[in-house]
Amino acid sequence: MKPIGPTNALYPMPTTLVGVTVDSKPNFLAVAHVGIMNHGTPQYLSVGLNKDHYSNSGIHENKTFSICLPSENLMKKTDYCGIMTGKKTDKAALFDVFFGKLKTAPMIHECPVNMELKLQDVLSLGKHEIFIGELVQTYADDSVITEGNINIAKLSPLLFDMASKKYWALGEPLGDCWNIGKELKNN
Ligand SMILES: Cc1cc2nc3c(=O)[nH]c(=O)nc-3n(C[C@H](O)[C@H](O)[C@H](O)COP(=O)(O)O)c2cc1C
Repeated sequence: MKPIGPTNALYPMPTTLVGVTVDSKPNFLAVAHVGIMNHGTPQYLSVGLNKDHYSNSGIHENKTFSICLPSENLMKKTDYCGIMTGKKTDKAALFDVFFGKLKTAPMIHECPVNMELKLQDVLSLGKHEIFIGELVQTYADDSVITEGNINIAKLSPLLFDMASKKYWALGEPLGDCWNIGKELKNN
């Protein structure tokens, strides 16, 4: 084992499309640096956005944003949203956009899962702003639901890896959480 410097090794991460309203118009950017801040009630999720991004001002202004989950079939459009800036390009024109309860958190019909969030807090860390939002509602297409839960095999999320700079696909399930480890118990 050798030290390789302070390398962030928390990949793969899901590639998401974060939706914001900027200057009264919907905009989407690709975001892989997402986090689960409180798993419980309420649910808090975070997105880490570079302070230079066009999108940030929209979250400050409206206090809302969305986190949309594209499937593999949206790889090109998702990547495009991570290359182009909403300052110059209407990225929302790529999608069939809808709004939920919050009115200013644009979401995407083509994404099988969409979450809308109300801004709870903002942290300034280095070059990034961490927007923490309270999850207000989740919208899921029937095609990715099994017995009331989101089925990640059906969702086919786009996984992002910084080291290879590639999108990856999900593999097969390996074992049951909170269960398989019991096999190491002595009794
Ligand atoms: C796969 C992928 C993941 C990305 N993840 C992030 C991220 O987590 N945080 C971030 O600030 N920018 C991220 N970006 C870059 C932004 O999506 C990109 O700079 C975008 O053009 C900003 O859009 P805007 O100018 O319309 O706000 C990512 C780009 C790609 C292609």
